[in-house]
Amino acid sequence: MERVKHIAIIMDGNGRWATMRNRPRVWGHIRGSANVASIVEEADRLGIKALTLYAFSSENWSRPFSEVRVLFSLLKKFIKRERARIINNKIRFKIIGDISELPQGTQELIRELEQTTAYNQGLKLTFAFGYGGRAELVYAMNQFITQNPGQKINEKDLSNGLYCPDLGDVDLLIRTGGDCRISNFLLWQLAYAELFFTQTKWPDFSPAEFSRIVDFVTRRERRFGTIGEVSDLNEAQKLAERNRVTINQQLGTH
Ligand code: IPE
Ligand code: IPE
Ligand code: MG
Repeated sequence: MERVKHIAIIMDGNGRWATMRNRPRVWGHIRGSANVASIVEEADRLGIKALTLYAFSSENWSRPFSEVRVLFSLLKKFIKRERARIINNKIRFKIIGDISELPQGTQELIRELEQTTAYNQGLKLTFAFGYGGRAELVYAMNQFITQNPGQKINEKDLSNGLYCPDLGDVDLLIRTGGDCRISNFLLWQLAYAELFFTQTKWPDFSPAEFSRIVDFVTRRERRFGTIGEVSDLNEAQKLAERNRVTINQQLGTH
């Protein structure tokens, strides 16, 4: 799975999954949250380096408080339930987004697990919680402006200023639940990602379907703007720069 290193998932469709079964929406979140561990395990088994899961967007604050509260408590329960397994499997756990409004106890659990697993070399498991892609870009730019007043920012500076720079670009984005949109997720990191939208709602999304999607996408040709001779975006950008100079020389513009 060398070509698919970083996978991001928009875990959508919990509410509809429950409504279809005449259950309250939060039932869907409970079942959805129970599904996360098996997908993490499968990502690890497939040799994926980074898995970033969208669990709560900055826009999700506009949902009824009763639903928001359940989502908070499910994050806490997930950490308590999975802590030992995360540590044993050498997973590096992180949260990106604004968690300052979460209960203190949950924030402490998060920080503790982040610190305990900070140097783990296994799967980089990241939850986007209280996360917005635009807010992340503004954060990165503000960081740069503060540290380098009066200077112009370039692409590398911006990448380095993101919440978790070592995650790098996303190779594959999967969204469950049938909607074909990005919903303010990882706007910068998705620039050249393969996109896969499945009708399956998150509580029903199985390790087998996940693995089939990864396999399918691994066989897709990614061209990064070239005519097909490179294997990653870095290489394509270097090639573009070399060619630009050569083409300009031949045109006599250099
Ligand atoms: C995704 O499921 C989970 C969160 C956004 C927190 P939804 O709650 O959006 O489920 P649908 O899209 O309404 O079915
Ligand atoms: C995106 O799902 C956010 C998460 C899955 C956490 P939403 O259900 O909030 O997205 P929209 O509102 O349909 O775009
Ligand atoms: Mg939704």
